Amino acid sequence: MNRIAHLFIILVTPAPLAAADYAKDIKPLLKERCVSCHGSVKQKGDLRLDAGALISKDVHHDLLARVTSSDEDERMPPEGARLTPAQIEMLRQWFAAGAIYPKDEVIPKKPSEHWSFQPVKRPPVPASTFGHPIDAFVFGKNEPPPQAKPMALLRRVHLDLTGLPPTIPEQERFAKEPSLERVIDGLLARPEYGERWARHWLDVVRYADSNGYERDAEKPFVWRYRDYVIESLNNDKPFNRFVIEQLAGDELPDRSVETHIATGFLRLGHWDDEPADPAADRYDQLDDIVSTTGQTFLGLTIGCARCHDHKFEPLATRDYYSLVAVFNPLQRPTKGRTELTIPVDGTEIYTWNEPSAKAPETHVLVRGSPTRFGDLVEPAVPAILVKQQPQFPAGEKTTQRRLGLAQWIASPNNPLTARVIVNRVWQQHFGQGLVTTANDFGLMGAAPSHPELLDWLAHWFVHDAKWSLKKLHRLILTSSAWRSSSVEQRAKSGEPKPSDSSLSALSPSLYRYRRLEAEAIRDSILAVSGQLNPKRFGPAMRPAIPVAALEANTDKDKIWKASDEHEASRRSIYAFIKRGLVVPMLETLDLADTVSSCPQRQVTTVAPQALTLFNGDFVNQQAKHFATRLKREAGDDPTKQISHAWRLALCREPSSDELAKMRAFLQNESLEQLCRVILNLNEFVYPE
Ligand code: HEC
Ligand code: HEC
Repeated sequence: MNRIAHLFIILVTPAPLAAADYAKDIKPLLKERCVSCHGSVKQKGDLRLDAGALISKDVHHDLLARVTSSDEDERMPPEGARLTPAQIEMLRQWFAAGAIYPKDEVIPKKPSEHWSFQPVKRPPVPASTFGHPIDAFVFGKNEPPPQAKPMALLRRVHLDLTGLPPTIPEQERFAKEPSLERVIDGLLARPEYGERWARHWLDVVRYADSNGYERDAEKPFVWRYRDYVIESLNNDKPFNRFVIEQLAGDELPDRSVETHIATGFLRLGHWDDEPADPAADRYDQLDDIVSTTGQTFLGLTIGCARCHDHKFEPLATRDYYSLVAVFNPLQRPTKGRTELTIPVDGTEIYTWNEPSAKAPETHVLVRGSPTRFGDLVEPAVPAILVKQQPQFPAGEKTTQRRLGLAQWIASPNNPLTARVIVNRVWQQHFGQGLVTTANDFGLMGAAPSHPELLDWLAHWFVHDAKWSLKKLHRLILTSSAWRSSSVEQRAKSGEPKPSDSSLSALSPSLYRYRRLEAEAIRDSILAVSGQLNPKRFGPAMRPAIPVAALEANTDKDKIWKASDEHEASRRSIYAFIKRGLVVPMLETLDLADTVSSCPQRQVTTVAPQALTLFNGDFVNQQAKHFATRLKREAGDDPTKQISHAWRLALCREPSSDELAKMRAFLQNESLEQLCRVILNLNEFVYPE
């Protein structure tokens, strides 16, 4: 055999495979290539391939014949690339080995029977020894896991609700009066609560201070929307009202400057101010609003129905364009490339507006093309969710279409809204949602791990708590589930390997050991060093950026004018988010995607994180301040300095071993170096 022929054989002969695994190999392949036509939404040729139990022995032969067929009319999948030889071999092996699949695999129901499309009903709280309903659902008659130690819980609850560690006086008070309920109520009443939790909402609504694209211009006064979110949370605005204000605050009978600012939500998206194709651009902007609205409030990936009926969900292009019809009356105020704000009661507001109550016509666009008009559509909500369409009454100044939609979303009968928000709150407290796909409650989303608990919470939230997020926080934080110790998890996963996937297999109903988000890390460092500038609200500040990060920009002298150190030492939620140039420290520590709705922060573990925390300018600077603070507050005695540092940063005394090591360290190194070490301890960024 000559060399070329030999090589050829190596290339075309599939490598021998280990026996194909259904969950790992087969199911993902079928989902990617077949289920769009052979699933619960569509059953072409009367065949379903979306669960192992549905793939009967009779089809094995036919299926292999179809995927290997050279007849283009026979071949499966009919569109796109053929399956690769390795994929075909995998199917063959799986059949040969008996087509084994997990017996507990859920067979997707008819789309209309999907769990999250059904009305929320309140299940009874299971009989248990626990007085707390969450614990009754989670543990039933079992023992709860060990609880975290009181001081660890104090630190956990401070970081969770405010993103800042407890001060020494707060620790002392708690030691004397160890009531976590008192602490929770106190923290929920603080302005820092809104500053922490607003950031979670900003992730979901794709907040940024600039437009993205080539020019990446600043969005004037967009920070008013950010401040609106902080204040709404601090005032415990009922969530249903919060939803309505953001979608239709300008259409409310009791509209105010505040409710107008809320509609900034509509204009947060990235935006090209010099589009090559203005018609396409117009639909891209509407798509940004429709897609974000679907994910944020309803947990639906409606954006996938823009060009074709959704391949995996019962959402048709007609559903998509009926939502486009809701937002189509909006105009983006601009003068050429310059964005304009709208004057409302004398303060400038950054939003879209509806110039009249007459709505333009909206058509289905064939294959999403802005020039190929299909059927005319009226405003409507996705048909699968309703027996009868909600009312879209006509308005006088505006069309009131957004108000109609918002009222339907915020209604107690909407099957999705309360489930989706309750799950988001749970996710932030526990590290993982009861539904792990927080933006996707559709057929392709994950099934809830505790369906009854989720429904109980959603019903309780609407009917008992009257949509109060603070009541929901309180309920969750007073459960034993949330107070469970993470020590065992860490032992199991082999500390410190927090990116280890064994952690993600943990039950979402137990507090999950995890790294703090970028903002909480940066803010905690500032709090501990004594430099945190508590100034609230108003225009964003710009933290210093390493020169190297600016080098790549053509206008590197103008692109980023850093604030002075005091101004830049404000909480990270006030940092300017420029889509084209994200503050490197925040980006390295996994800030949210700035372009589309981010349901959950990624937690990557990469070398630049260690470099940022160990040798970045910011941390070095703060270590200096921290050392100065220690000298000022603890005097010159190294033991006192170490103990003070431990309490400030970690909320506990050093062990005798730690103390001895640190004392030895201080013989050769400066206090500033010691401070750097402390800010780099795992415990600092991974609260117990
Ligand atoms: C774009 C839609 C589409 C996709 C994707 C698709 N199919 Fe099909 N499939 C069809 C249609 C339409 C038929 C019925 C017409 C026919 O028999 O050709 C069919 C028929 C079949 C049949 C014959 C059913 C019977 O009993 O008559 C098999 C087997 C099959 N598909 C397997 C697959 C597999 C395996 C995949 C993925 C690798 C796949 N199909 C992907 C559209 C699709
Ligand atoms: C901008 C237009 C557009 C959007 C938005 C879009 N698609 Fe598609 N998609 C296409 C086109 C074009 C095709 C190929 C022709 C077809 O199948 O209609 C396609 C094909 C597909 C196919 C393979 C065809 C098949 O039947 O197997 C899948 C699966 C798919 N899309 C899923 C999605 C999902 C999921 C989303 C949302 C995340 C999405 N699409 C959003 C344009 C789009």
